[in-house]
Amino acid sequence: MKRQLYTGSNYKKSININDLERIAKKRLPNFVFEYVYGGSDDEHTLHHNRTVFDQYLFEPRTMTKVGTRDLSTTLFDRSYQMPVAIGPTGFNGMLTRDGDRKLACAARDANIPFVLSNVSTTAMEDIQAIEGLTAWMQLYFYRDRAFVKSLIKRCQDARFEAIVITTDSAIYGNREWDVRNFRRPMKPTFANLAHMMTKPRWMLDVLLPGLPTFKNLDELLPPEKRGAQGASQIIGAQLDPSLNWEDIAWLRETWPGKIILKGILAPEEAEQAVKLGVDGIVLSNHGGRQLNHSLSPMDTLADVKACVGERCHVFVDSGFRRGTDIIKALALGADAVWLGRATLYGLAAGGQAGAAHALNLLRGEVDRTLGLLGHTNIEDLTSAWVVFRILCHFYPKRKEVMYDTTNI
Ligand SMILES: Cc1cc2nc3c(=O)[nH]c(=O)nc-3n(C[C@H](O)[C@H](O)[C@H](O)COP(=O)(O)O)c2cc1C
Repeated sequence: MKRQLYTGSNYKKSININDLERIAKKRLPNFVFEYVYGGSDDEHTLHHNRTVFDQYLFEPRTMTKVGTRDLSTTLFDRSYQMPVAIGPTGFNGMLTRDGDRKLACAARDANIPFVLSNVSTTAMEDIQAIEGLTAWMQLYFYRDRAFVKSLIKRCQDARFEAIVITTDSAIYGNREWDVRNFRRPMKPTFANLAHMMTKPRWMLDVLLPGLPTFKNLDELLPPEKRGAQGASQIIGAQLDPSLNWEDIAWLRETWPGKIILKGILAPEEAEQAVKLGVDGIVLSNHGGRQLNHSLSPMDTLADVKACVGERCHVFVDSGFRRGTDIIKALALGADAVWLGRATLYGLAAGGQAGAAHALNLLRGEVDRTLGLLGHTNIEDLTSAWVVFRILCHFYPKRKEVMYDTTNI
């Protein structure tokens, strides 16, 4: 039987993230929705990020008294309502006016961390000033290292707890939706401009007040290039393909707070990160937006965890849309799951309340899954509850040859 889908546009009636995705698609001009939805090349990784979860099945226990369940967790000595964070996504102001702040407030209300993208449309100081919020700041290593230093100084002045360095974007992925949708960076084709006219609510919310700009990058951009178009060109040219471990060693000496590396997949890179004093890693393929045919974090999570143990936090992202996905990752050793599109779809569908709704839906799913598994404490989950079904790859074979496990 075909599953019944929600086709309306009221986020309050959505019962899962897929519903929110459909509402987001209705509300946004196609070039904005496709910028969020799309992956690189022919999107193999984008799809693999969803199907990989089918390879893991639960082995539930029954008769275990699951009346009271605890989803809370501790990350870097602070406690949170559940092991989930909102990850960094750039240009949130294109989905709704003040998109970063709305997402951050939804995270604050749900008592989970929020990671601000370096290419956000709200200044980092304004997000850090939100009372009660734990915000971590994501940075790219730009070619202009003096500018990178000035960003780190701003993070220090604003007292961010953690800097997140994205390691998988030294070169920009080939996102063909964007190639087709834009004549030049941020210049939609005429067909897309015409389609935009069919979205008056979005135009009033986002376009009329003036397209948002990248508020953290003023020092990098000459005044005439601070608009969305000029900035996109310069940011693309500023991504530094020479990024390497010496940069991380330098950051470790420079930045006294926590360092999280986002974009790691290989166990030997996780090992190297720990050796350099990194506090956390995010196993990620950038939601299928960078290297196509990349592994999913779920493919490498167990191996990475076996390698780094408790020496640093292990986070994961890419493809998480259901509570069952989150529980599977936690059972395989993740300390928390970072969300990308899941909360963006909520944001596009209903602003801050829509993002909060997305978090509520996921929280409900996580809680129900935990109970159905016959378990009560999310922090004690182990792989004893998950069975790997299809031996479709031989990734663990790399273990003997690729990384040094002598310190474990
Ligand atoms: C619209 C969009 C913008 C993104 N911008 C950034 C960014 O500025 N910095 C970054 O490190 N990752 C960025 N990402 C990647 C996300 O942090 C995350 O890795 C990815 O979305 C996870 O996959 P999921 O969306 O399937 O959950 C972006 C992702 C999307 C969808």
